[in-house]
Amino acid sequence: MCGIVGYIGARQAAPILLDGLKKLEYRGYDSAGVAVLNEGAITVKKTKGRLKNLSDMIDGGHKIPGTIGIGHTRWATHGEPSDINSHPHTSESGKIAVVHNGIIENYMKIKEFLTAKGYTFVSETDTEVIAHLADYYYNGNLLETVVKIINKLEGSYALGLISSDHPDQMIAVRKDSPLIIGLGEAENFIASDIPAILKYTRSVYLIEDNEIALLTPNGVTLYNTDLDEISKEVFSVDWDIAAAEKGGYEHFMFKEIMEEPQSVLNTIGPVLRDGLLKLDKVPGRISIVACGSAYHVGIVGKYVIEALTRIPVEVDIASEYRYRNPIITEDTLVVVISQSGETADTIAALREAKKQGAKIFGIVNVVGSSIARESDEVLYTLAGPEIAVATTKAYSTQLTAVYLLALSLKKAMGELSAEEEKYYAEELLRLPDLISAMIEQKDKIQYYASRYFNAKSVFFIGRGLDYALSLEGSLKLKEISYIHSEAYGAGELKHGTISLIEEGTLVIAVATQEKLFEKIVSNIREVKARGAVVLAIATEGCELIEECADGVLYIPKTDPLFTSSPAVTLLQLFAYYVASLKGCDIDKPRNLAKSVTVE
Ligand code: AGP
Repeated sequence: MCGIVGYIGARQAAPILLDGLKKLEYRGYDSAGVAVLNEGAITVKKTKGRLKNLSDMIDGGHKIPGTIGIGHTRWATHGEPSDINSHPHTSESGKIAVVHNGIIENYMKIKEFLTAKGYTFVSETDTEVIAHLADYYYNGNLLETVVKIINKLEGSYALGLISSDHPDQMIAVRKDSPLIIGLGEAENFIASDIPAILKYTRSVYLIEDNEIALLTPNGVTLYNTDLDEISKEVFSVDWDIAAAEKGGYEHFMFKEIMEEPQSVLNTIGPVLRDGLLKLDKVPGRISIVACGSAYHVGIVGKYVIEALTRIPVEVDIASEYRYRNPIITEDTLVVVISQSGETADTIAALREAKKQGAKIFGIVNVVGSSIARESDEVLYTLAGPEIAVATTKAYSTQLTAVYLLALSLKKAMGELSAEEEKYYAEELLRLPDLISAMIEQKDKIQYYASRYFNAKSVFFIGRGLDYALSLEGSLKLKEISYIHSEAYGAGELKHGTISLIEEGTLVIAVATQEKLFEKIVSNIREVKARGAVVLAIATEGCELIEECADGVLYIPKTDPLFTSSPAVTLLQLFAYYVASLKGCDIDKPRNLAKSVTVE
């Protein structure tokens, strides 16, 4: 979604802003802009389209001198992508410029109020009300002005604000939208995400809701909304800038798939070394809440946790959960899964569950993110920064996190014998090698992608855990290749959707579950009889499937509960090669954003 970068110091701001915005491109955007303050005046340059357009317009930043500035990449919500709707927005006097991530829910009301006071609006955005409010409330003190503004706002925001009356100040504040402050030597930064400023500093403040930062070149002071000074620990980023760069690969997505074996090892290693997670209480029920791919991990989690522990698990899409009046009993554990830890719907679901007294167990990749901070317990997936919009290594590590949670629950129940613990630990520790074995098969996967990349519509079918995996395989394919795709429980297809199967329709049948093998073979025959072309994903040793499928890709043998791990890498690579053959923008698919920070 939208990205924010701000700089205050002694260097020229605009090139730093462009560089930071470039690092945030992966989040998805449709326009970009900067505002730079120099000799008592703010210059704003903004344009629709790629960052390169903006960079060309200002000659890489050199056309607009100044050592304090704010920049923004916009992902349109209120008003189409256009030059005028791009950020920064300025007050009518041009003295205050603001960048904003999030949505101001009561902007219509504020707009009416300000219009009645004589303010004129030039854009269709919600953000412009903030710039005019700044002018309306301005009393010579920027901090006090910002407090008055945020008292008026409903919704979510991360804000960066500068004023030509205060050439040595920048203000930043957030509510329900990520924001960090980077601490440098005689220079400071604001950003919506760490990669934007990692080149300049590893020391950051992770700003929380309603904390206000006043930045000068020489320091950062934090305040609450009563303008009392507050203190905060400096967070030291422990990953390298190389982790957020392509490192010679053509796409982040491919690089991140290649990193899966190591990411999985990093995630399971420490937990297995410590003898699984120490859970203080065994829940009577589990509710898993997440969005998109993380939700699909939740469905895998349901199968695995129920199979191992017999604790009932329900899985909800976060955006539905909060509005369906969920039943949360005293012994319910709510498991929240999120790569970014900043997905607005997931945060809202977490808060709803917390309000009703649930204990929250977070499975999160980004350290210090909102979901990590608001969970009672956190299991971090150690995938490192994930840049491609389509999640791959984070999904893989989330899978292993739910395996670890399931085993830890079983152990806490006193139902995991020492032998079983040893067996499962060994199986889990084999996963990085099994994933590597899938990567080694990439030429074969690419071959099948080249056979089928012209498909107009694809159906993924599977049973049990293979159904859960089909959901992810289908999402991966559609989000990056734009091929229409659906996933069905293989037995469900005949209840309606089979009418869409015709001569040449591609069906990808996931058949890794031995005990359901005969069943899925029957389902393959059903679609074959109606003209489908079938690519099957099966486990080595199940070569019988070759009799009914047109093509087969094999995963190595593992415990049936863990087959999703190698199999998802295969499906990710398949989607990647299809999208690549179609010439799609793999890392930044149209209309999508890396982390969805608005409802
Ligand atoms: C999947 O490739 C997508 N990027 C998307 O479905 C994603 O998994 C979802 O938006 C949830 O994001 P989160 O894990 O950061 O909460």
